[in-house]
Amino acid sequence: MKHQKLYMAPIKGLTDHLFRTAFTEHFGGFDLAIAPFISSKRDHTFKPKYIKDVLPEYNIALPVIPQIMSNVGEDFVALANYLFDLGYGSVNWNLGCPSRTVISKKRGAGMLPHTNLIRTFLDNVFSGIKGKISIKLRLGWTSADDIFRLLPIMNQYPIDSVIIHPRTGIQQYEGEVDLSVFEQCLSHLKHPVVYNGDIRTYDDFKRLAHRFQNVSQWMIGRGCLADPFLPVVIRTGDTTVPDRIQAIKRFHEDLFEKYSRVLHGPSHLLNRMKGIWRHLSCSFKDIETFTKKIYKTQRPDQYLDLVNRFFESAQREANS
Ligand SMILES: Cc1cc2nc3c(=O)[nH]c(=O)nc-3n(C[C@H](O)[C@H](O)[C@H](O)COP(=O)(O)O)c2cc1C
Repeated sequence: MKHQKLYMAPIKGLTDHLFRTAFTEHFGGFDLAIAPFISSKRDHTFKPKYIKDVLPEYNIALPVIPQIMSNVGEDFVALANYLFDLGYGSVNWNLGCPSRTVISKKRGAGMLPHTNLIRTFLDNVFSGIKGKISIKLRLGWTSADDIFRLLPIMNQYPIDSVIIHPRTGIQQYEGEVDLSVFEQCLSHLKHPVVYNGDIRTYDDFKRLAHRFQNVSQWMIGRGCLADPFLPVVIRTGDTTVPDRIQAIKRFHEDLFEKYSRVLHGPSHLLNRMKGIWRHLSCSFKDIETFTKKIYKTQRPDQYLDLVNRFFESAQREANS
């Protein structure tokens, strides 16, 4: 099989640099990540703290492409050029986020129906940008009409690649991905395309790779949070995972330790860890009783005790 490039998807609140680094050290499999978005600013002043997640010194284990949320070309260029000066060669534009706070400002997926706004944005960006730009987008806000209007426009600019999540904004993250619209986009776009959406198992990946043989770049989000071995299985084609439970346990310990150093206050730390379990729980059978207890814990010592007991019993069951 030809080399397939695997991207870790940006999941704001979860795939920050600590997560990306721990994931790479414990499981590997990804070639690169897109970082969760950073918003552009009107005043064009940036302090390192504002872009902390993508500071190069925190992103040694896995190459990362910073992502920018913006609907004003000049503001995008100011932040992008600041990032290029840090050594980045490319940035990604978020045209897909469906969250209420984002779309109410005509940003993310909320900008998709506004074709002229997008054209003006791209004109301004490409007249001032010092590096490469890729775009991550959905099919549209309420329908794929939006992307069909955008494809010829995107073809007019030297865009590095286009990451398509084939859902509409109003679908949020549920319902079916529309693979036939994705297929039509492939035949209309002249830029390299990255597929993103619902790759949860090796079989999902194989099915998609078989159907879209011209695609060689894939982005995985929730699938790798639920099964952290998925990227390496796709990469190697080897589905035998030795020492699975102990590897997830060590990853969990590492994350807990890393987050306890930077997140102040037990509720911040526990909320982050609970967020991870909401996905990771899919890796285990009959875990509901445990996760219910986890979501209720208020103290880190109580949480750790529960998690340790869970891993012990999961290991006993795996051995039996
Ligand atoms: C909680 C959450 C936060 C997300 N944050 C971002 C983000 O910052 N930037 C972005 O482009 N996409 C974001 N996404 C979308 C994912 O990158 C990805 O497109 C989506 O989850 C579909 O891929 P998947 O099925 O592989 O998870 C987010 C998704 C979720 C569920």
